[in-house]
Amino acid sequence: MIYITRRETFAASHRLYNPDWSDEKNNDVYDKCANKNGHGHNYVLEVVVKGEIDPETGYLLDLKILKEIIKKNVISLVDHKHLNHDVPFLSGVIPTAENIAMGIWNQLADKLPAGELNSVKLYETENNYVEYKG
Ligand code: NI
Repeated sequence: MIYITRRETFAASHRLYNPDWSDEKNNDVYDKCANKNGHGHNYVLEVVVKGEIDPETGYLLDLKILKEIIKKNVISLVDHKHLNHDVPFLSGVIPTAENIAMGIWNQLADKLPAGELNSVKLYETENNYVEYKG
């Protein structure tokens, strides 16, 4: 078993807010992240695919192909977007890093021509990241 990783970045805004709660409770739970008009992050995404090496190509999966799959199914949908409003695959969820990572997993899991998705790691800041493994 071998693992390959493609790293991508995107910039997006979001607001952490639960519409079932009062503004006061949202402010208590999410603090600055509940800011009415949102705030932005420079996200770093790492997509890890696992599998066996194809003896003919020597690749698990050509990273150029993985890059294109991530661009088409994730980056083009989230880059320079407001994650609460603009992104169909995040519709109806609070766009925490956890939920974004799960949404990205679901966008990619059935799109790989070889290997299988091992993990989606999403850095929201230099020090905070989440990792989803299905
Ligand atoms: Ni945030």
